[in-house]
Amino acid sequence: MTQTVYNFSAGPSVLPKKATQEAAAAIMDFAGTGIGILEMSHRSKPIENMVAETESMLRELMGISDNYDIVFLGGGASLQFCMVPMNILDEKAHADYTDTGVWAAKAIKEAKRFGTVNVVSSSKADVYNHIPKDFKQTEGAAYLHVTSNNTIYGTQWKNFPEAATYLVADMSSDILSRKIDVSKFGLIYAGAQKNMSCAGVTLAIIRKDILGKVERSIPTMLDYATHIPEHSMFNTPPVFPIYVMNRTLSWLKENGGVEAMEALNNKKSGILYDAIDNSKLFVGTAAKEDRSTMNVPFIFNKDVVAQEKADELQKEFLAFTKERGLEQLKGHRSVGGFRASIYNAMPLAGVEALVSAMDAFEKKVLG
Ligand SMILES: Cc1ncc(COP(=O)(O)O)c(C=O)c1O
Repeated sequence: MTQTVYNFSAGPSVLPKKATQEAAAAIMDFAGTGIGILEMSHRSKPIENMVAETESMLRELMGISDNYDIVFLGGGASLQFCMVPMNILDEKAHADYTDTGVWAAKAIKEAKRFGTVNVVSSSKADVYNHIPKDFKQTEGAAYLHVTSNNTIYGTQWKNFPEAATYLVADMSSDILSRKIDVSKFGLIYAGAQKNMSCAGVTLAIIRKDILGKVERSIPTMLDYATHIPEHSMFNTPPVFPIYVMNRTLSWLKENGGVEAMEALNNKKSGILYDAIDNSKLFVGTAAKEDRSTMNVPFIFNKDVVAQEKADELQKEFLAFTKERGLEQLKGHRSVGGFRASIYNAMPLAGVEALVSAMDAFEKKVLG
């Protein structure tokens, strides 16, 4: 009997088995056409229909109204760090950004190329272990930018701030994990390779009235207005990643949609945080009130494990968990220790297996 493997990678990460099986089958024969999806024109009817269906499932699952356009782009969330301000921040205007992690800082760095950026809050001095929520927005700011979930540090905005104008959010690592009120946002973007698909496609959800207001000349491919009327077919879109998204969204619908997923995510992360809080060996690194339901970083308790022993014991724990089929648990180098990414497609059984391995390891080490 082969052992079940649970993949706790932060991204690209675990996808629903059913979705990957369907995507694999489509490589050989897409929708009964006899042609594989990798070999099919993006302008063919079956692909056009599939892209339109993906958009419509997203609208249904997230409650996105007709006031918003949806585009599927290349370049990752990192390209959005510059594409967003290029499209909506005028040179003489200013925008507010919250600095809650390395990805937020990268968004800030790019936005500064296009207008004035006011960093209204930052937890950098505390290695981004919390979300600073007590801040003042700048008068007249074009928008307020947030990173909804900080993948590396395991912090998440539980309630989004009320923006004076509108919010712009990088939702790369928690999109579709919980219900959100899209109407608070002017723009939402997300790389797909965590909760939606494989790497290669980036989603942008753009309120119709925010575009066309900057004076600069925007290169054609970097202008949202190029892609919107063409339904993401101005040039060849990443067809296969969009199909993986299509199958993932279909799985999500079959499993009760975002609401059911949110309940499951609360349950999964709750079990893991309880295990950490009840442990003598492990401690969490993120402020409790900001703990992410998607990424759970934890380290050894420094009162129990001496600094000089920590590296060795860390290797032991990773080997111990690997033996049990629990993969990709090494923490990000800036936080250290371990990180369990438990996106939508991580089954409850995976989290239970991790908790039981943590318990067994603790008994082995502490007796
Ligand atoms: C919150 C967040 N934003 C942006 C990125 C960068 O995404 P990409 O690699 O698609 O550019 C990541 C990647 O992990 C992320 O976690």
